[in-house]
Amino acid sequence: MRLLARVQAAAATEGEPLIDLGRGNPDVPPPLHVIEALTRSANERSARVHGYAPFSGLTDLRRAIAERYATHYGVEVDPESEVAVVPGTKSALVELVLCVAERGDTVLLPDPYYPDYTSGVALAGANLGLLQLDPARGYAPRFDLAERDGVAVVFLNYPSNPTAAAVGDGTFSGAVEFARATGAAIVHDFAYGDLVFDGRTPRSFLAEPGAREVGVELFSMSKSFGMAGWRLGFVVGNADLVARMTVLQDHVRAGIFEPVQRAGIAALTGPQESVRERAELYQRRRDRVVAALGELAAPCEGTFYVWIRLPGDWTTEELLVRHRLVLAPGEGFGPSGRGWARLSLAVPDDVLDAGLERIAAAATTHG
Ligand SMILES: Cc1ncc(COP(=O)(O)O)c(C=O)c1O
Repeated sequence: MRLLARVQAAAATEGEPLIDLGRGNPDVPPPLHVIEALTRSANERSARVHGYAPFSGLTDLRRAIAERYATHYGVEVDPESEVAVVPGTKSALVELVLCVAERGDTVLLPDPYYPDYTSGVALAGANLGLLQLDPARGYAPRFDLAERDGVAVVFLNYPSNPTAAAVGDGTFSGAVEFARATGAAIVHDFAYGDLVFDGRTPRSFLAEPGAREVGVELFSMSKSFGMAGWRLGFVVGNADLVARMTVLQDHVRAGIFEPVQRAGIAALTGPQESVRERAELYQRRRDRVVAALGELAAPCEGTFYVWIRLPGDWTTEELLVRHRLVLAPGEGFGPSGRGWARLSLAVPDDVLDAGLERIAAAATTHG
């Protein structure tokens, strides 16, 4: 049974209310100036605002993301040819595979991976290959062990959902080298790019020499700014891949509602305190989890998740049914996730504390 159905079934049974640490929906809304930019634009009774927006996104929005890449990540990108505006990165990561992989090609996913990567692979009729990650080296990819023949696309994701590892030295250069040797396109999922802890600075794949020749990066407005429901993101980097994505946007969609794009410009170019505050909030919650769980928690360097090793005979099913706690089962993230679970920090502090108490109670019953 799928997780949602199991959670609904458990919720319908007698007992304490469920504590849900299984989902990853930002729990802090966007800053006020971003909401105001949306409403200001939506309140304009003009045909331009409410008609079809330019299919490739507002020029000012593409310039705003290019400016962010220059000022925040030290990367110059051309807003005309190296930026595609997309309605969230979730659809883009599916569509990128459709744009690149032919039936029978292989798409390499880091193991463990964000489960939505598998959708594009299935729709393209491609083969799913696994790229081993080394937990002892910050979940760095083992390109030396990877399949090389017929690989069309390689996904990377740092900071990672679900492991919460930030990128380490040598990972991006290894990816560029692998792409040059195999002809594969690299897709770096930077959805949690700004949510890094302990004084780290966000590290973009595109800052790696040669990266834009071989791949793209996905930047999402969902996590940095709490705009997950608004559906806005970008594909940045390789001009050929960006052009393919832009053509696809032209043919499949008819632009994104202008007020959402205006709000995106306000978020990217306006005050940035909220981004730092958001990362600090998740870092504080991470600290509470690590204090409670100690070595069960893998090193959590960013995102709003903690990757937890389930001791001995624990299962997420038992935590759900006996202790009424929802965690995302590790096996949903790939074969290496067996025996692990993902805990979400995107919940209010009291809910997080209640969840940690239930884990402590489970530890007592397991002795
Ligand atoms: C790793 C990762 N990539 C991409 C996404 C999709 O983000 P969005 O479609 O909101 O941009 C998510 C959302 O949870 C995610 O966890």
